Formats: sequence, structure tokens, C-alpha cells
Amino acid sequence: MNTQRPLDLVIFGGTGDLAMRKLLPALYHLHCDGLLAAATRIVGVARDDLDDAGYRELVCVQAQRFLGKDFRRSDWNTFVARLLYARVDALDGTSFSGLAEQLSARPDGQRVFYLSTAPSLFAAISRHLEAAGLIAADSRVVLEKPLGHDLASSRAINDEVGHYFGEGQIYRIDHYLGKEPVQNLLALRFGNALFEPLWRREWVRDVQITVAEQVGVEARGDFYDRVGAMRDMVQNHLLQLLCIVAMEPPASINPDAVRDEKLKILRALRPFGPGDVASRSVRGQYRAGASGGQPVPGYLEEAGIAPDSRTETFVALKAEINTWRWAGVPFFLRTGKRMQDKVAEIVINFRSVPHSIFGIPASPQHANRMVIRMQPEETVDLHLLAKQPGDVMHLQPVQLNLDFAEAFRSRRLEAYERLLMDVMRGNLTLFVRRDEQEAAWRWVEPILAGWDASGERPKPYTAGTWGPAASSALLSRDGLSWYEEI
Ligand code: BG6
Repeated sequence: MNTQRPLDLVIFGGTGDLAMRKLLPALYHLHCDGLLAAATRIVGVARDDLDDAGYRELVCVQAQRFLGKDFRRSDWNTFVARLLYARVDALDGTSFSGLAEQLSARPDGQRVFYLSTAPSLFAAISRHLEAAGLIAADSRVVLEKPLGHDLASSRAINDEVGHYFGEGQIYRIDHYLGKEPVQNLLALRFGNALFEPLWRREWVRDVQITVAEQVGVEARGDFYDRVGAMRDMVQNHLLQLLCIVAMEPPASINPDAVRDEKLKILRALRPFGPGDVASRSVRGQYRAGASGGQPVPGYLEEAGIAPDSRTETFVALKAEINTWRWAGVPFFLRTGKRMQDKVAEIVINFRSVPHSIFGIPASPQHANRMVIRMQPEETVDLHLLAKQPGDVMHLQPVQLNLDFAEAFRSRRLEAYERLLMDVMRGNLTLFVRRDEQEAAWRWVEPILAGWDASGERPKPYTAGTWGPAASSALLSRDGLSWYEEI
């Protein structure tokens, strides 16, 4: 980024949940770390009747809530000086004039438009920005997920936004790619010679990718009930993680080199045929139970949820990749709300030794395993067998642990901080290209259709557990178990 050049970051949905919870706190942290250029302004855009002062006050209250002890009044006072507000109704082109006036005051400025609104507004916003003369050849647009409801709607949104912004100007955000451990997986895989020879079907028995949350649908019932776990988490976050684990080494870290390799994996995913949906997928919905020792309601009792809703709050899938490297290696994907723990991790289970000179039977307890954990802590653990001290040759499982917080004491950037920096610098590597996104839709659509066609309800599971029993059965059919059941 040219640090001298003024930059205007315009956040549509500037009073919304994402802006308050993630974007503005991330920008505040970047400001405190001196990572925002002096001439960077942040323009919150929404329909609310506010002026700059009113917006700053609103943001301040929310920032205290979401920043907690990181909120420091002195830093805040310098940060809010960057904040402006523009009242805009995305559907009314005439209302863009105030925003146009603010931005035109810096005609040489770089503009980044962050669309944190319902995707149904993306086309109208882009059209009105163009009509107001606000899109320059080097302007950028950030699109928040979910981008569409299926392949057709995602294409329609991409086509419409694509009228006004070139693909090189479009930053489709998947915040999982901004998480440090995910980038560390790239470093681990492609910065070390050690793992590459083992990273293939000959040595890997199965891969498990779990993103489990303890929370329920919270205040987002209305939104979630129309979306469900497949569209909210699998189509984007989990498939992106799968790509990072499975892709071939790219020739460089350049955006298209990386995205080309991810795309090849998405295209090589074995499609779900009609018979596969029952045998390779599980969808669940939580019932009342307990979370953190407190009773919690079931999904159907949550606010904003249709009483007979069939929306899934849990998904487990067996994915397979039709390539020489991965043929025959199941990639199990699992995500859910109201699960037992909040955990996001990738488990690479290696095969057992071909012959044990110690007479140890081949078993998952004794096999090598690499666990890359993104949440709650950021760690990489390597599970090995070692000799127990003593006069007999007795082997037991031990772990080599790398705790990133311990190893690197410097402050770690949150996903949104990292990704916002990348947008401002113009680095597309960690953003999803249109063809990747469409390939992901193409793979999940038959599963969604199969669920609809089956007429079955999602399988119930008690809040605070690891999901329906069918999830364990999905692995046991291959003689395998989820990591926490081993
Ligand atoms: C979002 C989903 O993309 O990711 C949410 O819309 C989910 O439903 C969230 O809670 C999880 O993100 P993280 O970073 O908290 O694991």
C-alpha cells in the first residue's frame, strides 16, 4: 500500500452486527498498532438518521462491549477522528449524494467498499456507486458471505457486481482464511520439506475437519433459519479449509497460483449421487439440552425459527477427492451449533506402521496424528509413540506441542484485521475467486437437494453433545472414529 495515498474504507451496513462486532474493533486494533495509514478514513454507511457525532457515539458504546479491556480511551479518541457517517438507502440512488460529496473531497483517494449488508443489496449498491461516479479503476469491493443461496443466485450476484467491478477488484471474504493457524498450515506444508512426502494417500488414512460451536443461533434466528449450517459454514469455511489441506503445492504465494490449486481440489471432489446423500451425509438439529452447565432451548424454540423448521444446525459429510494424491482417503467435515465444545481443528490421521517390531497392534490410539487447532487455542500437535522410561520396552503415545501464542509472543492479528490489511494492500491471495465459489456451490447443491427430496427431518441431537449418533456411524462404516472418540 502506498502509505501516503489517502484511503477511504466505506462500510455499507455500518451500524450492523458485523461492523460493530468485528470490523470496527479490527480497525481500532490496526489503528493502535500503527498499521492504518494516517490518511485512512472509515465511512460508516446505513439508513439510520445519524450524523458523524451520533455514529461515533454509537460505535463507542458497542466498541466498549466488544473490545473489553482493549478499549483505551486515549487510543479511542484518535481512532474516532477517522470515523465518518453517511446516511444512504441502498435502494435509493438519490441518497448516495451525501456519500459522493464526502468521497469526492479526496478525488485522488483509494476507495474500498465493504458490503456488509444482505447480498440482495449488492447489485443495487454497486449500480448506485457507479452512477454516482464513485467507482474508479482501482477501487475495491469486499463481499461478505453468504453470497447467494445456491449456484444460480450466487452467479446472479457475481454477474451484477461484475458489471461494475472487475474480478481483480472483488474481495470475497471468508474469514477462516484470515485465521493465523490456517496460514500456518500453508507455512507448515510448503515451508518445510518434512511433511510433503507423507501428505498423500500412502500415508494418510483419513482427515477430519471440525468447526464446532457451543453457541446456538443467538439473535440471528431469522437469518439462520433461511440458511442453515451447510450454507453458513460448509459451502465456504469448511471447504476452504479442505482446499488448504489438500491442494497441490502452488508455484508461488501469488493469488492466482494459490487459488488455481484450491479450485482444482473443489473440482476434483467426488460428486454426491442420489444414493450418496444417505450414506455420506448427516444433518442434525439441536434439541433442548445444556451448554456451559446452563439449560438451553432447542432450535425450534429459539426466536425467529419456524416451529416446523427443517433447517440443519449440524452437518457431517464424507468428502472424497478424485486425484492420485487423495484417492481413497476420506475427508470428514463436521460443523454444528450447540455442540459440546467450541473447537475448530484439522486432524490428519496417519496410517499405522506396516509392521510393529514391538508387537503393538495397529490401532488409532497408536497411529501418528497431526492436530492443527484453530480454536480455542492455536496449536499444532504431533502425536507419536515413544518409549516409556524403565527397564522394559514399553511404548506410549506422546505429543510434540507447538503453541503459537507461546512460541511467538507478539500480538496475533485477528482474522478480520489480517484480511482488512490485505484488502487495503491489494492482496487477493486469501480471498475467494468466483470460480472457486461456484465450484463449491456445485458440490453442495446435490446434497441440499437430496435432503429436500428425502422428506426426512434433520436428526435430533441434544444441545451440548457432539451431534446425532449418525455422525459417529458415518465414520464407523469405514472402521474409523472422530478424534474425540478415539
Ligand atoms: C460465520 C457464521 O461465518 O462464522 C457464524 O455465519 C459462525 O454462524 C461464525 O458463528 C464462526 O466463526 P468463528 O471465527 O467464531 O469460528
